[in-house]
Amino acid sequence: MSSCNIAAGSQNVYNRLHAAAAAGTVDAELSIMGCLGFCHAEPQIRVTDAAGKQFLYMAVNPAKLNKIIADHLRNGTPVAQWIADDSRPDFVQLTGKQHRIILGNCGKINPESLNAYLVAGGYQALEKVLKTMSPADVCETVIASGLRGRGGAGFPTGLKWKFALKELNEKKYVICNADEGDPGAFMDRTTLESDPFAVLEGITIQAFATGANEGYIYCRAEYPLAIRRLKMAIADAGARGYLGKNILSTDFSFELHIQEGAGAFVCGEETALMASIEGQRGMPRLRPPFPAQSGLFGKPTTINNVETLAGVPWIIRNGAEAYSAIGTEKSKGTKVFALAGKIKRSGLIEVPMGISLAEIIEEIGGGTGTKRPVKAVQMGGPSGGCIPAELFASTHIDYDELMRTGAIMGSGGMIVLDDTTCMVDVARYFLDFTQHESCGKCTFCRIGTKRMLEILTRICDGDGRPEDIAELEELSVKVKDTSLCGLGQTAPNPVQTTLRYFRHEYEEHIHDKKCRAGKCKNLCGFEITDQCTGCTVCAKQCPVNAIAGAPKKQHVINQELCIHCGVCRDVCNFEAVKVI
Ligand SMILES: Cc1cc2nc3c(=O)[nH]c(=O)nc-3n(C[C@H](O)[C@H](O)[C@H](O)COP(=O)(O)O)c2cc1C
Ligand code: SF4
Ligand code: SF4
Repeated sequence: MSSCNIAAGSQNVYNRLHAAAAAGTVDAELSIMGCLGFCHAEPQIRVTDAAGKQFLYMAVNPAKLNKIIADHLRNGTPVAQWIADDSRPDFVQLTGKQHRIILGNCGKINPESLNAYLVAGGYQALEKVLKTMSPADVCETVIASGLRGRGGAGFPTGLKWKFALKELNEKKYVICNADEGDPGAFMDRTTLESDPFAVLEGITIQAFATGANEGYIYCRAEYPLAIRRLKMAIADAGARGYLGKNILSTDFSFELHIQEGAGAFVCGEETALMASIEGQRGMPRLRPPFPAQSGLFGKPTTINNVETLAGVPWIIRNGAEAYSAIGTEKSKGTKVFALAGKIKRSGLIEVPMGISLAEIIEEIGGGTGTKRPVKAVQMGGPSGGCIPAELFASTHIDYDELMRTGAIMGSGGMIVLDDTTCMVDVARYFLDFTQHESCGKCTFCRIGTKRMLEILTRICDGDGRPEDIAELEELSVKVKDTSLCGLGQTAPNPVQTTLRYFRHEYEEHIHDKKCRAGKCKNLCGFEITDQCTGCTVCAKQCPVNAIAGAPKKQHVINQELCIHCGVCRDVCNFEAVKVI
């Protein structure tokens, strides 16, 4: 169980099963599991029979649960129609193109059990590293694998480790960046909650490879379950000789701490993160010196993202070649994405690099799942951009290819947008986020983003001026060019990509005073067409009773009363409400 499953009711399912087991109604051993990433179909139960055969039930509700208990757990008869396996086309669509390395154990093993991790092959990589490899060997293996940092910038991980290894200093640090502040992103949280030992093993290998003997996991305090499981995992790993002094009876010792962050987006930036651990205000500083030379407390420090580190044990166990065989020429391995927004099968997926956006969004994600068409995907969080649906088939997951579209791989947030989304409003939303999160050190990041936000807000309010687009373009370049850290350097990306692909929407807002998506209240209205069946749903949902009509007769919106909230369009199943 992880935070998202618990929010969707898995704790209740667990409690019910626990009560049944305690009462002797079922004879089964109960265990928790992490998150499979199928957010659209929570809660899930995996039943393993005496022969080891597994049965997965998704979207379990109380009625389903009663039947699963009665038929499967008590009588040994699986409820065939609810079992998610390869006989179901929707399950094949969801899983067929995924390639699970990082998420390999997630939803399969008990994240609170070191034994479960060991049974799944855990700590074999650390053993191999400590007993058969030198730090330089580990760096070379990771270089050969082609692994690039999953925290956003995509820097080659092995090379970063090699730089730190070369530093001659008896004190070095490693840091696992678990700040994860991008709106719509939950890859790192899920990995930490579902397979914490894999992250610990990755960090320990990172420390060995770079010559560090102390490390920190910097995790935002809004992730209490991840922090609780990490604390448990650190204690268990320490007690069994996988952390602490003389790990696995070798002369390698490594201490690991958890530092809780207060949830500032900028604290994910590596120099701000280190300042925060040091007890200072989380503000970025100029590089060089790079952290590998002078990082935490002035010592050589290697910082990597959760997903980057969680992939390392697999690489060591299976070899660099096995990893580099997956993906494209310059982007190797797999990438975890968080599919959110207007997508039918929301959740976490892990796909090989090189897969197209169409395969991810249309096949794995199932499209919007409503009758509305996909319009675009917002990728890479506030530093990213929007890619229009027309480019999905020709755009592949690859650091460089995505960059060419104006978006970025980022950490893996994918927010799918349909035609009810206004692209000016999307740009405004992300700029509002970065403007709030700016640390204020650089003038253009602090004030330039504020001016950009003012312009976007007035365009959405219907007060756009003819010179606004040129001004946004000019400010975008200045904010990028004059900002010290990645936050300011990328803050204009959502504006620039929406201007690149959806310029006509800006122009319509400014010149025609129209919002075609029906989002900007001052620039749109709604009308019911003759496709209306008179089902009465919209009239019941309208918050201001602006809709009148008899059952089975075409309904009408009273334009005087209508507040342009768009609820009628959202609830109509017959596409009978149009934007005017
Ligand atoms: C504003 C800002 C926020 C960032 N937030 C994160 C974050 O939450 N997690 C993360 O791993 N990297 C984040 N990064 C990137 C880190 O600075 C750094 O590049 C990364 O942790 C390096 O690890 P990697 O090489 O494994 O990707 C952020 C960068 C910037 C500029
Ligand atoms: S670019 Fe923005 S967030 Fe980064 S240091 Fe400058 S003011 Fe702070
Ligand atoms: S929900 Fe749609 S079909 Fe039903 S009454 Fe309203 S407009 Fe007509």
